[in-house]
Amino acid sequence: MRAIVSHSENQPAQLNEVGEPDRESGDVLLEVTHSSVNFKDGLALAGRGIVRRWPTVLGIDIVGTVAESASNAFSVGDRVTLNGAGAGEVRDGGFAERARVSSESLIRIPDSISSSQAAAIGTAGFTATIAVLALADLGVLPDGGDVLVTGAAGGVGSLAINLLSRRGYRVVASTGRAAEQSAFLSSLGAAEVIDRSQFSDPIAHPLQRERWGAAVDSIGSHTLANVLAQTRYGGVVVSNGMAQGIDLPATVLPFILRAITLVGANSVDAPRGLRERAWATLGDELDLQALDSLTAVVGLGDTIAIADEILHGRIRGRTVVQIA
Ligand SMILES: NC(=O)c1ccc[n+]([C@@H]2O[C@H](COP(=O)([O-])OP(=O)(O)OC[C@H]3O[C@@H](n4cnc5c(N)ncnc54)[C@H](OP(=O)(O)O)[C@@H]3O)[C@@H](O)[C@H]2O)c1
Repeated sequence: MRAIVSHSENQPAQLNEVGEPDRESGDVLLEVTHSSVNFKDGLALAGRGIVRRWPTVLGIDIVGTVAESASNAFSVGDRVTLNGAGAGEVRDGGFAERARVSSESLIRIPDSISSSQAAAIGTAGFTATIAVLALADLGVLPDGGDVLVTGAAGGVGSLAINLLSRRGYRVVASTGRAAEQSAFLSSLGAAEVIDRSQFSDPIAHPLQRERWGAAVDSIGSHTLANVLAQTRYGGVVVSNGMAQGIDLPATVLPFILRAITLVGANSVDAPRGLRERAWATLGDELDLQALDSLTAVVGLGDTIAIADEILHGRIRGRTVVQIA
């Protein structure tokens, strides 16, 4: 079968003919129909970390149809998806025509969502949903002030905007591409679009004007430090990404003087209950027309070239890899 494979550390991946998936790698065999390209896939495709076992088929998202199942939970023909759980890092992922996966992390796609749309959602949408659920679980209500979404035109950001606005939050979208993406971000549900440059530099003051009731941050580094410094008393900030950097040059003052909460969101190791809850939420709440408007589709043969685009922030929304 055809697959995109990382053969060794620090080397870009290659599209190869490879053998069928190993029986030991999971109790369910999938005919893969789609995958997607996330920021993390961009790093892996370019040979810049992520992969921890070689050779490995890349692709952290897998969407397919069950072809064989030794699990009671899944039957031949079921449409399923798997996000993270080590795919494309320590076990074979979704950039291949077939994949063998563990039923433990596998989720049946809600009937309202097509297989291509499930791939468009992918890890980015799954993570955005985990972030939105975290805000709700921590008591953030739509009347609790503006919710800032950073990295707004990216995968996690664009889907977080849509989910939050559909829940009634007033969403402010922060982007480096305001001139070209404002109309798009408004169509997803952003009430306001602002320039990300105001968050990019080292914090001028550890406590700034209180602007945000909550925030979903894909950027980290100075951006997250500024967001913390601008969050209102009692507000909640979800940290899910590191597009600017993994550092956090902040102070404790927003925590001890404004009682704010900083909470993490992790998709890779999400337990089964959270996976089921997030996908049920997506099935009920995501605007699928908006999802289609932010999705581009490529073939397996075009996927390696996308790495450079996503790593330079030139992709808008989501890129689906059509495999079947
Ligand atoms: N925790 C998890 O489980 C999890 C899951 C998925 C993703 N992530 C992380 O979340 C982040 C976003 O992922 P994604 O798939 O949404 O990526 P993406 O589609 O590439 O979007 C990232 C966005 O971040 C902004 N950006 C890029 N470089 C920047 C910089 N130097 N400074 C400020 N903003 C910058 C850009 O938005 P604008 O053009 O709008 O400015 C870009 O579109 C990544 O760091 C990824 O690794 C984590």
